[in-house]
Amino acid sequence: MKEKIENLAKQAKESLEKVTNIQALNELKIKYLGKKSELSNLLKEMANLSQEERPVIGALANKVRKDIEEKIAKKEEEFEKRELAEKLEKERIDVTLPSTKVKRGSKHPVNRIIEEIEDLFVSMGYTVESGPELETDRFCFELLNLPQGHPARDMQDSFYITDEYLLRTQTSAVQARTMLANQEKTPIRMICPGKTYRREDDATHSHQFTQAEGLVIDENITLADLKGTLEIFAKKIIGENSKLRFRPSYFPFTEPSYEVDVSCFKCGGKGCNLCKQTGWIEVLGSGMVHPNVLGMCGYDPEKYSGFAFGLGLERIAMFKYGIPDMRYLYQNDVRFLGQFDR
Ligand code: DAH
Repeated sequence: MKEKIENLAKQAKESLEKVTNIQALNELKIKYLGKKSELSNLLKEMANLSQEERPVIGALANKVRKDIEEKIAKKEEEFEKRELAEKLEKERIDVTLPSTKVKRGSKHPVNRIIEEIEDLFVSMGYTVESGPELETDRFCFELLNLPQGHPARDMQDSFYITDEYLLRTQTSAVQARTMLANQEKTPIRMICPGKTYRREDDATHSHQFTQAEGLVIDENITLADLKGTLEIFAKKIIGENSKLRFRPSYFPFTEPSYEVDVSCFKCGGKGCNLCKQTGWIEVLGSGMVHPNVLGMCGYDPEKYSGFAFGLGLERIAMFKYGIPDMRYLYQNDVRFLGQFDR
């Protein structure tokens, strides 16, 4: 029996020395230590041994078992280390290699103008408002002093969806919304950039464009406030040296009304092809909020007054960045858009 155990120990030692991978090691583990292993079988035979032999053989068997266990554990550790080292080697990353270039997008020129305008007016205490693009006739026209059948409705050809709903033709609709939402609360100082739609089908107009609306309501607001505000707007958004010219005009929602020209972006007022030799470029409509509008939108015209203005942002972007054709703004050509990278 002793001999059998010693043989087994020798055999185990030899095969464990030769083992080269974890699977083979697991097989050996079963072979030498498992329930059906030779060692287990031998131990079962211990019952047949004499009293004196039993402890001696028992101790030997235990020692051999422990020995084999230790050897296997050592091998296991060795294999695990080797596997980890191989894995690390295989998954090694060279962080010094150049990476694939991620192409950054750029801000659309119209969005850049929107952000500039928002920043400027927020810095003067304005809120930024918005309204629905699918608007009701009431907000887009009626509350702005343009009742059904008013001839000035012809100034803006509209996309009607139903008799009541249309795609808003002007962000001025948001004036009425803001006033009705505030009801005699003052001051209102708001700016509203947004998309607008008109049925235009000639080469120089788009059916969809972008406007920004401004509105201020309080007690004692005068034309001087409008002029001062627009002067700041022109200096900050268009150019430090720009001058403004107010031309009397007509809008149903303001009285008096003005179209405002700015000294030419390109020649500064001397006259060039951009301003058609006039030195001036028309940029916005404005005026003092009409008493009818104040009244319909919940502000007593005897007590409150206000000014409003609206401008087309594509025009501003084109002049400011020297974009020769409005269609560039809609074609999403990255060669064009990439030029406006910050
Ligand atoms: N809504 C006008 C347009 O689209 C522009 C405008 C003119 C807005 C005068 C105003 C304003 O707020 O007071 O042509």
